[in-house]
Amino acid sequence: MLPRAKITAMGYYVPSRRLTNADLEKMVDTSDEWIVRRTGIKERRIAEKGVYASDMALIAAKRVLENAGISAQELDLILVATTTPDMFTPSVSCIVQGKIGAANAAAIDINTACTGFVSALTIANQFIKTGYYQKILIIGAETLSLMTDYQDRNTCILFGDGAGAVIVEPSEGDEGVLGTVLGADGEGGKNLTSFAFKDDEEETAKRVSGNKQTLWMDGSEVLKFAVRAMAKATTEAVEKAGLTLDDIDIIIPHQANIRIVEGAAKRLGVDMDRMFINLEKYGNMASASIPIALCEAFGSGRVKKGDTAVLVGFGGGLTWGAAVVRF
Ligand code: COA
Repeated sequence: MLPRAKITAMGYYVPSRRLTNADLEKMVDTSDEWIVRRTGIKERRIAEKGVYASDMALIAAKRVLENAGISAQELDLILVATTTPDMFTPSVSCIVQGKIGAANAAAIDINTACTGFVSALTIANQFIKTGYYQKILIIGAETLSLMTDYQDRNTCILFGDGAGAVIVEPSEGDEGVLGTVLGADGEGGKNLTSFAFKDDEEETAKRVSGNKQTLWMDGSEVLKFAVRAMAKATTEAVEKAGLTLDDIDIIIPHQANIRIVEGAAKRLGVDMDRMFINLEKYGNMASASIPIALCEAFGSGRVKKGDTAVLVGFGGGLTWGAAVVRF
């Protein structure tokens, strides 16, 4: 049997600065009660001024290498999932590669928004299966605070900053990535946008800030998409793994909104106690949400060796993806 990508270590970083619902009440016309009822989020972490995605990615990288007990020189590849890179070039993965001294590693950034970590894990799994690479560092890192329109109450309540990382290596037994699915709906991409070079008067006018780089979203369209995508991706990945939902100990979803997770759980016929949730503390950290949730699920003993989990993401693009992983 071909080896599969096995997660052998985890590490994460979140900034210490908190943005609470009470803070947001002073910034826009909203309330703690509304935010908790509609999203489940109570607070988010916000990077200090001058701290970028690569800075947080670097801390997460150092922590995961230490937890793995391997040196940076042993890495073959660094994959960074991010939608909020410091700059267009060099990429976040190249910045991290240089700073940790991973002289033997290739470095690639991936932008599939909130699906980023699952996309990167899926790609890493292919490299491990073919035997092309042995040790891959995967990081999801985001400074969504830099993309958020803090004058728009529809979106500013949702997002936070952070970075999570894992090391994957070839499996020896029955652990590792058992099944994956990735998908996209480019037509639906218009429902969640942030602009770089392109000028678009209509899009700019939608933003309260008037800044085309800030994120604009049709919240109810994205909400409907997300519930469908999460349920569909989970079902398909479990099928590809040759398993049924009864074989799954825990689902670790992208932490966008408690209502999305509840909606998907209902569609799947899975109790909420099989869903891992930490969004109340961090909000939506895009590609950093799943690896940080994974770290906390392990750290709290909620997931242990031998367990089988589904990691499932969905978001801008529009994109979605799920991976069934045995630890
Ligand atoms: N505080 C108070 N009221 C708010 C508000 C806020 N922060 N944000 C929006 N509202 C208002 C709206 O203006 C609207 O008022 P109106 O009826 O007078 O027009 C009302 O609340 C209902 O808005 P609606 O958009 O229908 O609410 P919703 O139940 O869809 O919740 C979101 C809004 C943004 C929380 C929800 O759509 C959502 O979470 N969408 C998915 C977002 C997401 O996770 N995206 C990333 C995916 S990776």
